[in-house]
Amino acid sequence: MNRFLRACAREEVDRPPVWVMRQAGRYLPEYREIRRTAGDFLTMCRTPEIAAEVTLQPIRRFGFDAAIVFSDILTPLVPAGIELAFSPAPHIANPIREPADLDRLHFPEPWSGTEFLSETLERVRDGLEPETALIGFCGAPWTLATYLVEGATSKSFTRAKSFAHNNPEAFDAFLDRVADAMVAYLREQVAHGAQAVQIFDSWIGALGAEDARRWALRPARRLLEATADLGVPRIYFANGGSHLLHDMRDMPCEVIGLDWRADLSMATRALPDHVLQGNLDPGVLMGPDAAIRERTLAMLEKAPRRGYIANLGHGITPDVPVRAVETFVRTIQGFRYE
Ligand code: CP3
Repeated sequence: MNRFLRACAREEVDRPPVWVMRQAGRYLPEYREIRRTAGDFLTMCRTPEIAAEVTLQPIRRFGFDAAIVFSDILTPLVPAGIELAFSPAPHIANPIREPADLDRLHFPEPWSGTEFLSETLERVRDGLEPETALIGFCGAPWTLATYLVEGATSKSFTRAKSFAHNNPEAFDAFLDRVADAMVAYLREQVAHGAQAVQIFDSWIGALGAEDARRWALRPARRLLEATADLGVPRIYFANGGSHLLHDMRDMPCEVIGLDWRADLSMATRALPDHVLQGNLDPGVLMGPDAAIRERTLAMLEKAPRRGYIANLGHGITPDVPVRAVETFVRTIQGFRYE
């Protein structure tokens, strides 16, 4: 087993494994080069040769312990009849604004329509050494529902909340449908080579504790319970979910991904039964190398001694200097447990 999978299983490792959310992306000159000629982002995702190449770019440059397949949380909505475009922010032309609109949302059963991703996973696996793990992913039900209802990234999420508060039972059922579709989608990814999966609940932070329990944690649990038999570690990343640490104590998954707002020592105490992942503020990478080194080492000191995966506390932004990522990664790669 490689270092990443050993950490997921709480086995002894020489140092924490490290990877970075959005490690394939615009901060890399080699990504921008391919992006310039390859057409739009969705075309890149749907072209396995290109998607596999950009997945591997950060592995070659930094030697991360895990690769995350190049795609987007929104790509599996297209087979359900959703008209999606990126420029680069996502836009949905036919959003689900009210319960009646749910009639035109048809997730394929059995799952189909993302064969490009299956091929990308196989190509990436062929291009990876055994010491590098391959991560598949999907969006969590609440986060996907916000895109389906709002049609774009939102600041206030008033349309999604309006749907939820005016039609609570229909919204529950909607979230269940999304959860079940994502179970089938993750199953497909594992069948084609994903050795771990991450569930991105990017917008759970838009909900207060009570609503988050009903609209985000409950359907995420449903998804996690139905993927327990996949036999791969599952990472639940709750972005902006620091107010929910105690609620996540019994999440049926192996790993909890922490965002950069969470205090790692507090999270270690609050979540003793989970492997933890995270959580340096990506903003620290805008500072000088000495500060990056210091903050990265401080993070490793606060982290649990076993069952820990080093990462940023959210996706890397396009303006982060490559040099800063290099400093972050090398600091972790040079670290050794006593
Ligand atoms: O390297 C990796 O992490 C794998 C690829 C990946 C992308 N999106 C590629 C991408 C992953 C794991 C995602 C997940 C994703 N997509 C999330 C969850 C993670 C998070 O940030 O909380 C969300 C919320 C989305 C939706 C999305 N996709 C947004 C809001 C945007 C626009 C913002 C931006 O970064 O420009 C995208 C576009 C997107 N997804 C890009 C990439 C590389 C930029 C496309 C381009 O190159 O023009």
